[in-house]
Amino acid sequence: MTEQNNTPVHVSFIMDGNGRWAKARGKDRIYGHFEGVESVRACTEAAVEAGVKYLSLFAFSEENWNRPAAEVETLMGLMMRSIEKEVDTLMKNGVRFVVLGNLGRLSEGLQSAIAGLMEKTSICERMTLIVFLSYSGKWDILQASRRLAEDVAAGKVKAENVDQDTFSQYLITAGVPDPDLLIRTSGEQRISNFLLWQAAYTEFYYTDVLWPDFRKPEFRAALAAYAHRSRRFGKV
Ligand code: IPE
Ligand code: IPE
Ligand code: MG
Repeated sequence: MTEQNNTPVHVSFIMDGNGRWAKARGKDRIYGHFEGVESVRACTEAAVEAGVKYLSLFAFSEENWNRPAAEVETLMGLMMRSIEKEVDTLMKNGVRFVVLGNLGRLSEGLQSAIAGLMEKTSICERMTLIVFLSYSGKWDILQASRRLAEDVAAGKVKAENVDQDTFSQYLITAGVPDPDLLIRTSGEQRISNFLLWQAAYTEFYYTDVLWPDFRKPEFRAALAAYAHRSRRFGKV
């Protein structure tokens, strides 16, 4: 197998450990989130350089709405400012920007900023950067089930014809290949309600490095580890 074949098409991240990074420095959790944006920038660049086609980032879960209001507000503000700041870099690097999740829960201002950046970068073809915002795997499966049930009731789809491919088309990730590699930082080894359906055969990579410290060398190490994995998909 050539080295090219060992490059994952879709790399996904559970970016974790911002709060602990800040706490270790005697600072407010917020500083960890600020510094984490630098890691997003570095990893986006590293992914483009490595020839990854889809980079997805779990930025805010449905459960994260339960955090203190001030932290939620700062995170949303940070998202807004990053969107405004990064448009030129994304365009220059040929990166299409996509946000997936229960976006109705976001403020109208953020929703329209997201729509604007998605529209602007929709012509980019080198890599797709997906940010999962107000997302959870169970929410995704439920919304897909509801919409599918409606289509069955309306006679658009026959229940007996529903297979895995049909169901995948109702998930918010329709059209996006399932992640080949899922990296979680900060030492936690759990899925935290992320891509439950889509990660059925994903390779997992855990590292103790906290997200704000996860930069290009750490990303390259994860890609190198992936290159040695043997994926069998249940076969022998
Ligand atoms: C990840 O860092 C960012 C989000 C989940 C929004 P955390 O904020 O979860 O940081 P820790 O896990 O408390 O250190
Ligand atoms: C997972 O991190 C969600 C994101 C990275 C957006 P959390 O910090 O929310 O996960 P738990 O609570 O430790 O499982
Ligand atoms: Mg965390």
